[in-house]
Amino acid sequence: MNIIKVKDQQMGGKEAFNLVKADIENGAKVLGLATGSSPITLYNEMTNSDIDFSNMTSVNLDEYVGLEADNEQSYHYFMNEHLFSKKPFKNSYVPDGSNPDAEAATKAYDKIIEDNPIDLQILGIGRNGHIGFNEPGSPFDGKTRKVGLTESTIEANTRFFDDEKDVPRFAYSMGIGSIMKAKKIVLLAYGENKADAIAATVDGPVTEDCPASALQNHPDVTIIVDEAAASKLK
Ligand code: F6R
Repeated sequence: MNIIKVKDQQMGGKEAFNLVKADIENGAKVLGLATGSSPITLYNEMTNSDIDFSNMTSVNLDEYVGLEADNEQSYHYFMNEHLFSKKPFKNSYVPDGSNPDAEAATKAYDKIIEDNPIDLQILGIGRNGHIGFNEPGSPFDGKTRKVGLTESTIEANTRFFDDEKDVPRFAYSMGIGSIMKAKKIVLLAYGENKADAIAATVDGPVTEDCPASALQNHPDVTIIVDEAAASKLK
Protein backbone atom coordinates (compact mmCIF):
# COMPACT_ATOMS: atom_id res chain seq x y z
CA MET A 1 0.00 0.00 0.00
CA ASN A 2 1.24 3.43 -0.90
CA ILE A 3 0.53 6.00 1.84
CA ILE A 4 0.53 9.72 1.07
CA LYS A 5 0.40 12.00 4.11
CA VAL A 6 -1.00 15.45 3.51
CA LYS A 7 -1.44 18.57 5.64
CA ASP A 8 -5.21 18.72 5.29
CA GLN A 9 -8.18 17.70 3.19
CA GLN A 10 -7.53 20.50 0.68
CA MET A 11 -4.10 19.06 -0.10
CA GLY A 12 -5.58 15.56 -0.10
CA GLY A 13 -8.01 16.63 -2.82
CA LYS A 14 -5.11 17.92 -4.90
CA GLU A 15 -3.08 14.71 -4.45
CA ALA A 16 -6.08 12.57 -5.33
CA PHE A 17 -6.84 14.75 -8.35
CA ASN A 18 -3.26 14.27 -9.62
CA LEU A 19 -3.72 10.51 -9.43
CA VAL A 20 -7.08 10.68 -11.23
CA LYS A 21 -5.65 12.97 -13.91
CA ALA A 22 -2.60 10.76 -14.51
CA ASP A 23 -4.83 7.70 -14.82
CA ILE A 24 -7.10 9.44 -17.34
CA GLU A 25 -4.01 10.47 -19.33
CA ASN A 26 -3.04 6.78 -19.29
CA GLY A 27 -6.39 5.83 -20.83
CA ALA A 28 -8.71 5.30 -17.85
CA LYS A 29 -12.33 5.43 -18.99
CA VAL A 30 -14.29 4.29 -15.90
CA LEU A 31 -14.08 5.94 -12.48
CA GLY A 32 -15.57 4.34 -9.38
CA LEU A 33 -16.84 7.11 -7.11
CA ALA A 34 -17.85 7.55 -3.47
CA THR A 35 -20.06 10.01 -1.62
CA GLY A 36 -19.58 11.48 1.87
CA SER A 37 -17.35 14.30 3.05
CA SER A 38 -13.95 12.78 2.18
CA PRO A 39 -14.09 13.03 -1.65
CA ILE A 40 -15.56 16.57 -1.74
CA THR A 41 -12.21 18.36 -2.19
CA LEU A 42 -11.30 15.91 -4.97
CA TYR A 43 -14.61 16.64 -6.71
CA ASN A 44 -13.93 20.37 -6.36
CA GLU A 45 -10.56 19.87 -8.06
CA MET A 46 -12.25 17.86 -10.81
CA THR A 47 -14.95 20.48 -11.42
CA ASN A 48 -12.38 23.29 -11.48
CA SER A 49 -10.12 21.42 -13.90
CA ASP A 50 -10.18 21.55 -17.68
CA ILE A 51 -10.59 17.78 -17.94
CA ASP A 52 -13.46 16.70 -20.16
CA PHE A 53 -15.28 13.73 -18.62
CA SER A 54 -17.97 13.56 -21.30
CA ASN A 55 -16.54 10.42 -22.86
CA MET A 56 -16.06 8.71 -19.49
CA THR A 57 -18.24 6.55 -17.27
CA SER A 58 -18.68 6.72 -13.51
CA VAL A 59 -19.95 3.97 -11.24
CA ASN A 60 -20.86 4.89 -7.66
CA LEU A 61 -20.45 2.63 -4.67
CA ASP A 62 -23.79 2.83 -2.98
CA GLU A 63 -27.22 4.36 -2.44
CA TYR A 64 -29.77 4.39 0.36
CA VAL A 65 -32.74 2.11 -0.14
CA GLY A 66 -36.05 3.96 -0.28
CA LEU A 67 -34.80 7.31 -1.54
CA GLU A 68 -35.67 8.60 -5.01
CA ALA A 69 -32.81 10.09 -7.05
CA ASP A 70 -34.23 13.60 -6.58
CA ASN A 71 -34.36 13.28 -2.77
CA GLU A 72 -31.84 15.74 -1.35
CA GLN A 73 -30.43 13.09 1.01
CA SER A 74 -29.85 10.55 -1.74
CA TYR A 75 -26.40 9.78 -3.06
CA HIS A 76 -27.70 10.45 -6.59
CA TYR A 77 -28.48 13.98 -5.47
CA PHE A 78 -25.10 14.36 -3.74
CA MET A 79 -23.22 13.33 -6.87
CA ASN A 80 -25.25 15.66 -9.11
CA GLU A 81 -24.66 18.50 -6.70
CA HIS A 82 -20.90 18.00 -6.25
CA LEU A 83 -19.83 16.72 -9.64
CA PHE A 84 -22.16 15.64 -12.42
CA SER A 85 -24.10 18.91 -12.81
CA LYS A 86 -20.78 20.70 -13.31
CA LYS A 87 -18.81 17.98 -15.09
CA PRO A 88 -21.13 15.56 -16.88
CA PHE A 89 -19.92 12.07 -17.69
CA LYS A 90 -21.16 10.08 -20.69
CA ASN A 91 -22.83 7.64 -18.28
CA SER A 92 -23.07 7.93 -14.52
CA TYR A 93 -24.38 4.96 -12.57
CA VAL A 94 -25.60 4.91 -8.97
CA PRO A 95 -27.58 1.95 -7.54
CA ASP A 96 -31.34 2.48 -7.87
CA GLY A 97 -32.41 3.06 -4.27
CA SER A 98 -35.99 3.66 -5.40
CA ASN A 99 -36.32 0.04 -6.54
CA PRO A 100 -37.79 -1.97 -3.64
CA ASP A 101 -36.92 -5.21 -5.46
CA ALA A 102 -33.45 -5.82 -3.98
CA GLU A 103 -32.77 -8.85 -6.14
CA ALA A 104 -33.48 -6.94 -9.36
CA ALA A 105 -31.72 -3.75 -8.27
CA THR A 106 -28.52 -5.51 -7.18
CA LYS A 107 -28.38 -7.86 -10.21
CA ALA A 108 -28.80 -4.89 -12.53
CA TYR A 109 -25.96 -3.09 -10.79
CA ASP A 110 -23.62 -6.09 -11.01
CA LYS A 111 -24.27 -6.17 -14.76
CA ILE A 112 -23.34 -2.48 -14.96
CA ILE A 113 -20.08 -3.11 -13.06
CA GLU A 114 -19.31 -6.11 -15.27
CA ASP A 115 -19.93 -4.09 -18.44
CA ASN A 116 -17.87 -1.16 -17.16
CA PRO A 117 -14.73 -2.50 -15.46
CA ILE A 118 -13.49 0.15 -13.05
CA ASP A 119 -10.08 1.64 -13.82
CA LEU A 120 -9.78 3.74 -10.66
CA GLN A 121 -11.96 3.46 -7.57
CA ILE A 122 -12.21 6.31 -5.06
CA LEU A 123 -13.05 5.19 -1.52
CA GLY A 124 -13.76 6.82 1.81
CA ILE A 125 -13.66 4.74 4.99
CA GLY A 126 -16.06 4.46 7.91
CA ARG A 127 -14.94 4.75 11.53
CA ASN A 128 -15.52 0.99 11.75
CA GLY A 129 -13.46 0.31 8.62
CA HIS A 130 -16.37 0.01 6.22
CA ILE A 131 -15.83 0.66 2.52
CA GLY A 132 -18.88 1.37 0.44
CA PHE A 133 -21.52 0.18 2.88
CA ASN A 134 -19.69 -3.06 3.50
CA GLU A 135 -19.86 -3.13 7.26
CA PRO A 136 -17.69 -5.39 9.47
CA GLY A 137 -18.43 -9.05 8.71
CA SER A 138 -19.08 -8.44 4.99
CA PRO A 139 -17.67 -11.16 2.74
CA PHE A 140 -14.49 -10.22 0.87
CA ASP A 141 -15.83 -11.78 -2.33
CA GLY A 142 -19.23 -10.04 -2.10
CA LYS A 143 -21.14 -8.56 -5.00
CA THR A 144 -23.77 -5.81 -4.92
CA ARG A 145 -26.35 -6.44 -2.23
CA LYS A 146 -28.82 -4.90 0.16
CA VAL A 147 -27.13 -4.18 3.48
CA GLY A 148 -28.35 -3.08 6.89
CA LEU A 149 -26.37 -0.14 8.24
CA THR A 150 -24.76 -0.46 11.68
CA GLU A 151 -25.68 1.83 14.57
CA SER A 152 -22.28 3.58 14.29
CA THR A 153 -22.84 4.32 10.59
CA ILE A 154 -26.40 5.52 11.20
CA GLU A 155 -25.09 7.77 13.94
CA ALA A 156 -22.30 9.13 11.70
CA ASN A 157 -24.85 9.83 8.95
CA THR A 158 -27.31 11.71 11.15
CA ARG A 159 -25.30 14.89 10.53
CA PHE A 160 -26.77 14.92 7.00
CA PHE A 161 -30.39 14.54 8.19
CA ASP A 162 -32.71 16.71 10.30
CA ASP A 163 -33.69 13.80 12.50
CA GLU A 164 -31.93 10.50 13.32
CA LYS A 165 -35.10 8.57 12.58
CA ASP A 166 -35.00 9.84 8.96
CA VAL A 167 -31.63 8.16 8.33
CA PRO A 168 -32.28 5.15 6.08
CA ARG A 169 -31.50 1.79 7.67
CA PHE A 170 -30.63 -0.01 4.43
CA ALA A 171 -28.49 0.63 1.39
CA TYR A 172 -27.57 -1.08 -1.85
CA SER A 173 -23.80 -1.37 -1.88
CA MET A 174 -21.21 -2.62 -4.29
CA GLY A 175 -19.51 -5.60 -2.64
CA ILE A 176 -15.88 -5.87 -1.57
CA GLY A 177 -15.30 -8.44 -4.34
CA SER A 178 -16.28 -5.85 -6.97
CA ILE A 179 -14.25 -3.09 -5.31
CA MET A 180 -11.19 -5.38 -5.35
CA LYS A 181 -11.55 -5.82 -9.13
CA ALA A 182 -10.85 -2.11 -9.75
CA LYS A 183 -7.41 -1.74 -11.34
CA LYS A 184 -6.40 1.05 -8.97
CA ILE A 185 -7.86 2.16 -5.65
CA VAL A 186 -7.43 5.52 -3.93
CA LEU A 187 -8.74 5.70 -0.36
CA LEU A 188 -9.21 9.07 1.33
CA ALA A 189 -9.33 9.56 5.11
CA TYR A 190 -9.19 12.75 7.14
CA GLY A 191 -9.57 13.45 10.83
CA GLU A 192 -8.85 11.79 14.13
CA ASN A 193 -12.02 9.70 14.09
CA LYS A 194 -10.57 7.73 11.14
CA ALA A 195 -7.23 6.97 12.87
CA ASP A 196 -8.24 3.57 14.30
CA ALA A 197 -9.78 2.44 11.00
CA ILE A 198 -6.68 3.50 9.05
CA ALA A 199 -4.35 1.71 11.48
CA ALA A 200 -6.46 -1.46 11.24
CA THR A 201 -6.56 -1.17 7.43
CA VAL A 202 -2.80 -0.77 7.01
CA ASP A 203 -1.18 -2.51 9.97
CA GLY A 204 -3.87 -4.86 11.24
CA PRO A 205 -4.64 -8.42 10.20
CA VAL A 206 -6.63 -9.00 7.02
CA THR A 207 -10.00 -9.73 8.56
CA GLU A 208 -13.69 -9.20 7.88
CA ASP A 209 -13.77 -7.33 11.21
CA CYS A 210 -12.15 -4.46 9.29
CA PRO A 211 -13.56 -4.53 5.75
CA ALA A 212 -10.90 -2.13 4.41
CA SER A 213 -8.13 -4.54 5.50
CA ALA A 214 -9.06 -6.52 2.35
CA LEU A 215 -7.20 -3.79 0.46
CA GLN A 216 -3.90 -5.24 1.73
CA ASN A 217 -4.51 -7.96 -0.89
CA HIS A 218 -4.90 -5.47 -3.76
CA PRO A 219 -1.83 -4.71 -5.90
CA ASP A 220 -2.41 -0.97 -6.44
CA VAL A 221 -3.82 0.93 -3.47
CA THR A 222 -2.95 4.50 -2.48
CA ILE A 223 -4.16 5.84 0.85
CA ILE A 224 -4.28 9.60 1.24
CA VAL A 225 -4.43 10.67 4.90
CA ASP A 226 -4.01 13.83 6.92
CA GLU A 227 -1.87 13.78 10.08
CA ALA A 228 -4.80 13.04 12.37
CA ALA A 229 -6.00 10.05 10.35
CA ALA A 230 -2.39 8.79 10.14
CA SER A 231 -1.71 9.30 13.84
CA LYS A 232 -2.12 5.65 14.87
CA LEU A 233 -0.08 4.13 12.02
CA LYS A 234 3.04 2.19 13.10
C1 F6R B 1 -20.04 6.58 0.63
C2 F6R B 1 -19.38 5.39 1.17
C3 F6R B 1 -18.91 5.35 2.59
C4 F6R B 1 -18.09 6.57 2.99
C5 F6R B 1 -17.63 6.47 4.44
C6 F6R B 1 -16.86 7.70 4.88
O1 F6R B 1 -20.36 6.38 -0.73
O2 F6R B 1 -19.22 4.46 0.46
O3 F6R B 1 -18.14 4.19 2.76
O4 F6R B 1 -17.00 6.69 2.14
O5 F6R B 1 -18.74 6.31 5.28
O6 F6R B 1 -17.69 8.81 4.86
P1 F6R B 1 -17.13 10.29 5.08
O7 F6R B 1 -16.23 10.57 3.92
O8 F6R B 1 -18.35 11.17 5.07
O9 F6R B 1 -16.40 10.27 6.38
